Amino acid sequence: MCGIVGYIGLKQAQNVLLEGLEKLEYRGYDSAGVAIYNGDEIGVKKTKGRLADLANHLDQKALVGQLGIGHTRWATHGKPSDENSHPHVDGEEQFAVVHNGIIENYIELKEELIAKGHHFTSETDTEVIAKLLSDLHDGNLISTVKKVVKRLRGAYALGIISNYEPDKLVAVRLASPLVVGIGEGENFIASDIPAILKHTRDVYILEDGEMAVLDQHHVQLMTLEGTPVNRDVLRVTWDMETAEKGGFDHFMLKEIYEQPKAIRDTLAGRIKDGLVDLSQEVGLTAESAKQINKIHFVACGTAYHAGLVGKTVLEQLTRIPVEIDVASEYRYRNPIIDEHTLVVVVSQSGETADTLAALREAKKHGARVLAITNVVGSSVSREADDVIVTWAGPEIAVASTKAYTSQLIAIYLLGMYMAQLLETSVVASIGNLLDELQSLPEKTEEVLGQADKIAEFTKSIVHHEHLFFLGRGMDYAVALEGSLKLKEISYIHSEAYAAGELKHGTLALIEEGIPVISLATQHAVFEKMVSNIQEVKARGAHVLGLASEGDTELLKSVDEVMYIPTIHDLFAPVLAVVPLQLLAYYACVERGYDVDKPRNLAKSVTVE
Ligand code: F6R
Repeated sequence: MCGIVGYIGLKQAQNVLLEGLEKLEYRGYDSAGVAIYNGDEIGVKKTKGRLADLANHLDQKALVGQLGIGHTRWATHGKPSDENSHPHVDGEEQFAVVHNGIIENYIELKEELIAKGHHFTSETDTEVIAKLLSDLHDGNLISTVKKVVKRLRGAYALGIISNYEPDKLVAVRLASPLVVGIGEGENFIASDIPAILKHTRDVYILEDGEMAVLDQHHVQLMTLEGTPVNRDVLRVTWDMETAEKGGFDHFMLKEIYEQPKAIRDTLAGRIKDGLVDLSQEVGLTAESAKQINKIHFVACGTAYHAGLVGKTVLEQLTRIPVEIDVASEYRYRNPIIDEHTLVVVVSQSGETADTLAALREAKKHGARVLAITNVVGSSVSREADDVIVTWAGPEIAVASTKAYTSQLIAIYLLGMYMAQLLETSVVASIGNLLDELQSLPEKTEEVLGQADKIAEFTKSIVHHEHLFFLGRGMDYAVALEGSLKLKEISYIHSEAYAAGELKHGTLALIEEGIPVISLATQHAVFEKMVSNIQEVKARGAHVLGLASEGDTELLKSVDEVMYIPTIHDLFAPVLAVVPLQLLAYYACVERGYDVDKPRNLAKSVTVE
């Protein structure tokens, strides 16, 4: 998982590449590098560390030239180091390559190339590509690249330049995202649109098995077999402001505050005449919906936690049994999938390798696959049968916030739409449910209005190394998400427990002063939850309770309490998660860590 960018034109490539890489740092940030052709030879500068380290090196000694490629890395093969950073070159330095993905057969290729006398300087899989380019060079860059990719197994987006044909920039895509930007007298490649948006709004999105050959004035698209590809230019309409911090200290905070808008946008145009209307995006009919006898949710991380809420929501609304799997487990457990199964994959990026693999497994067994994703044109969205886009806008912070709440909204819409098609008993109360659903943006704003209270409470937990989140029903699903968020950015260890399960072992860990965040927003289990809170309170825990306005009963059992506006139980997760996101955020800030780029993590996980 990495970000790549490439430029050919009349500007100094170094500046274009560095600016582009800055927008791609969310894809990985343990090392960075550029390769630039200076009219005579290819110069390479690469270094372990953040992009700023690379920029410092280049400030001291710039690389001059108008053709170049750049890379920001998230290590897979080989630790973060100068040698393992990209770009990689062949022995003669005639070719330079940047790569996002994994070459599965690199060991056998490396052995073959070493036997032929090639010398390797890194531990990466990518270096074999540079050496193969040299080994298979036949005097023509395009045909050489085709020969090279025929030898590669795995996933890759590649950017390649060569001394032999310095009027070309070549890009190849197989199972890793890549876009081509079309400028005037200049052209670009990048892993993602924000990297080139400053220069152009006209892009081609490469498909798997395609390559692009760019010169200063033209872009040729073709398959790896050489068949020309005609593709419509996609005009990007969102502006760069959306991808910038907009006055907040961190992207994560900005994105937390964008949730009312993200929810509103995700609902927009999908409720008509008092009913949910997904007919433009979901091909299900009353007849085909009735053929579905089970639903599987498959996703990773935060998206998986959205699916956990989704299980309850869809079962309540459709009365169809729902299973949920972590995507990395799904295809290895031989799940029972057939043409009567609806598989819902949830993925913010739409590029998560495990989720994509699960989607393919489901399709192989004849399931109908519906994707909930935030990225139009992503791999998941292109391969699914139906797509519900969450209109959260670009999410830059590694810790997902607005994507999660938007995923919940998409799930509610799906549940209600299916209920309408299936004519389940909830249809009678759909008007009330829709009123509640549409009240969420405003109620989320109310929760955000209590941020100071959360900031204050956070001070009492930041010096603890362990804490607990408890909840029942959908509160348990939200507790899991709150716990993940806290671990991910503040590095405080926390456990989320189904509150009724605590006494089966984990209660042994509750001791004097340990913070316990107890969610009690689900009215159906409120009293049970209060009993569970008393169990931890009796053992000395310091309890923050989260309840719905009016449930003042909780006050008697907790040390501190925070209220969310009253809402139907089904929709409470959207409001309940917000204080937990803020808690994680403030804890991270108090502890002085990097909010938007937590250690060891990257935004988009395109490796298994
Ligand atoms: C946590 C987080 C991750 C992602 C997971 C799936 O804050 O963001 O757990 O949710 O990596 O990513 P997507 O949704 O892009 O498939």
